[in-house]
Amino acid sequence: MKFGYFDDSNREYVITTPRTPYPWINYLGTQGFFSLISNTAGGYSFYKDARLRRITRYRYNNVPIDMGGRYFYINDNGTIWNPGWSPVKTELDSYECRHGMGYTIIKGKKNDLSAEVTFFVPQDYDGEVQQVVLKNEGSNEKTFSLFSFAEWCLWDAQDDCTNFQRNFSTGRVEVKDSTIYHKTEYRDRRDHFAFYTVNDTIDGYDTDRDSFIGLYNGFHNPQAVEAGKANNSFADGWSPVASHYKKITLAPGETKTLVFILGYVEMPVDKKFEADGKTINKEKALAMIEQYNTPEKVAAGLAGLKAYWDKLLGILSVDTPDDKVNRMVNIWNQYQCMVTFNLSRSASYFESGIGRGMGFRDSNQDVLGFVHQIPDRARERIIDIASTQFPDGGCYHQYQPLTKKGNADIGGDFSDDPLWLILSVSAYIKETGDWSILDEMVPYDNDMSIAQPMLEHLKVSFYHIVNNLGPHGLPLAMRADWNDCVNLSCFSDTPGESFQTYTNPKFAAEGGYSKIAESVMVATLFTYTGPNYVSILKHLGKDDEAAKAQAEIDKMKKNIMDSAWDGNWFLRAYDANGEKMGSKECEEGQIFIEPQGFAIMSDIDADATKKTLAAIDERLNTKHGLVLNNPAFTKYYIQYGEISTYPGGYKENAGIFTHNNAWIICAAAYAGEGDQAFKYYSEIAPAFTEETSDLHKTEPYVYGQMIGGKDAGADIGQTGKNFGQGKNSWLTGTAAWNMVAISQYILGIAADFDGLRIDPSIPAAWDGLKAKREFRGATYDIKVSNPNHVCKGVKSVTVDGNAIEGNILPAFGDGKTHSVEVVMG
Ligand code: GLC
Ligand code: GLC
Repeated sequence: MKFGYFDDSNREYVITTPRTPYPWINYLGTQGFFSLISNTAGGYSFYKDARLRRITRYRYNNVPIDMGGRYFYINDNGTIWNPGWSPVKTELDSYECRHGMGYTIIKGKKNDLSAEVTFFVPQDYDGEVQQVVLKNEGSNEKTFSLFSFAEWCLWDAQDDCTNFQRNFSTGRVEVKDSTIYHKTEYRDRRDHFAFYTVNDTIDGYDTDRDSFIGLYNGFHNPQAVEAGKANNSFADGWSPVASHYKKITLAPGETKTLVFILGYVEMPVDKKFEADGKTINKEKALAMIEQYNTPEKVAAGLAGLKAYWDKLLGILSVDTPDDKVNRMVNIWNQYQCMVTFNLSRSASYFESGIGRGMGFRDSNQDVLGFVHQIPDRARERIIDIASTQFPDGGCYHQYQPLTKKGNADIGGDFSDDPLWLILSVSAYIKETGDWSILDEMVPYDNDMSIAQPMLEHLKVSFYHIVNNLGPHGLPLAMRADWNDCVNLSCFSDTPGESFQTYTNPKFAAEGGYSKIAESVMVATLFTYTGPNYVSILKHLGKDDEAAKAQAEIDKMKKNIMDSAWDGNWFLRAYDANGEKMGSKECEEGQIFIEPQGFAIMSDIDADATKKTLAAIDERLNTKHGLVLNNPAFTKYYIQYGEISTYPGGYKENAGIFTHNNAWIICAAAYAGEGDQAFKYYSEIAPAFTEETSDLHKTEPYVYGQMIGGKDAGADIGQTGKNFGQGKNSWLTGTAAWNMVAISQYILGIAADFDGLRIDPSIPAAWDGLKAKREFRGATYDIKVSNPNHVCKGVKSVTVDGNAIEGNILPAFGDGKTHSVEVVMG
């Protein structure tokens, strides 16, 4: 069952009923000001940091689930409704929500009155613009009242939902003309305020929540709206809100357009106030309001936003025989990659924005998905991340975006972290050819006095693995590797301990974690990423160092075959007792997904590759994607940690963790199994799940972190319950990795150190594909034909009519368009 449809020409998903199986959301903003908006206008806004600079309030895990947002209420002679249906939930005569690239349009109609609201954050602007177009579509004059509504958050989102003894006494506002200013704590230590304004006169306002809503009412029946009139209330302590009230009369056919702006302003300390020392100096706010106070300016802002996305999405576009692939690659997957770039894992309907900063591993992997779109910002991001590394190559696991400092509460010792830096730096160089990033002086632990060139950071990353090996010559697992829930040094038997940050005191003497537990996943990640480091050294003429690094990679491959090959697949780990994890010898959790793909792509052993791909298909694949492990754990294994705490079929315990599905898609494509790769791709790609949105539940235009696996429900004797149900949509490394999988491995268009590599691994049934790719200052018009219907193999390549050797297109850098013909066979 579907709840809408894709409008590809407008790059929109059009939702046709407000009753989606979960709030289906969009993100507004690309630089500093961000908003989340659901298909009923629920959600919230923040500036840069979802925790430390939260502007509007949102209550997570609410009942009903999506309550609180920026709401417009209409009281039309006693019929009260919202253009987005919720929160009043009056049945509308028509409803539509269009989520587009950085904007959302919600349109509702009731009793011949239509209201269309366009929400967006313009480029270079710290505010959300909301344009409301009201139209009398009937034949009689209509008089009704309109109320806007936003609820201020008291800035620090964590504090906002805990420290009530203080919070209830701090709220402060100012009202001037049609603008409501939120200035809680502005008098003291904050140099920022927010405002909510409308470009017209108003008939009243409310700024105190209890006056507007009423203590015994809710968002669904605010007493001011029911009364049809505002109270002109003034918040003083308690809970500040912002609501404008306007009485409107429309002749038949007449339209009224109002532009609301929710803005954020930072002020220099000496200019915060007017001469009286207490009234906000509104100069900057008024200038901001001036920027979008007419429909014409709004139209120009929207056009600017569209141009921005045209540019970003114009860098890579494809035309394959499958519309769903085109829609994912050309629009939604790239869009989601930009959202994960901007938001990391901070704020979604599943991430409250208060728990985590930017992850070292997550943000490095995100780079892989967006580096072609905004290479400059990728460079900046990589440097920010690398600045939180320690001199020995270990890393802070997270940092806060506002301070860019490593998060000491979480600390380091996640065994995979350093390797992702090698991958992101390599991806950046491959895309741009900008080798100068390696010379950039980058601090350790944010301390510029011990800065070293980025190349040195790569070296310590590489050797951090080499210097931390266990008894089988495999990397120590430490607190966790990529899988946060494989905690081999934890042995936790006490509620409340964090599986990731708690390490059992029995390992204290050994430096905090087991010196026996080893991660095969990190071993294969090392043999997969290591060759990038070797290529970089060779390019720099450092042949001795390259040979030394290559020897370490070769040695690791040997150790993997000697100690981590289980006969049909690769082991997952050795636990702290020296026992195999992820072996046919285990009772549960006999095979795990994580090491397999990287092992295949490391060319460790051709026979092992074949057997592994077969085992994956047999043991892990389902119609909804590949489960993480099999069989699921049905009891708690103290030596494994969190992974065995989830009911089978969910999250890391045999859920379909879509992030690492991509590694297998890449690996199958790499191994020439284009059909197998595409099968796995289409099992999880959102556009392919659209038809079963009632089961899948999350948005059909973006990936989620997880899909319920085949073991879901087994614990309660209902095997298959929730199998196929999506969870945790939007902020996931799945976006970047599936972008890599489809564009680089399946469609086979991949930036490489020496040029643009074309090496498709597609379904044999395809006749070919076309693509347009901007790369290092030239445009490549690529046509691939597949006359013999193979999955993989390039027979010939011509560029502008001339045959070239091999399949790497040179970087022309001449600003011209080059036509490329590739024949497979
Ligand atoms: C989440 C985390 C990521 C981790 C993964 C597996 O996606 O953000 O860091 O690798 O879970 O546990
Ligand atoms: C991290 C991981 C998530 C995991 C959680 C466990 O947040 O990203 O996947 O389940 O830790 O606490």
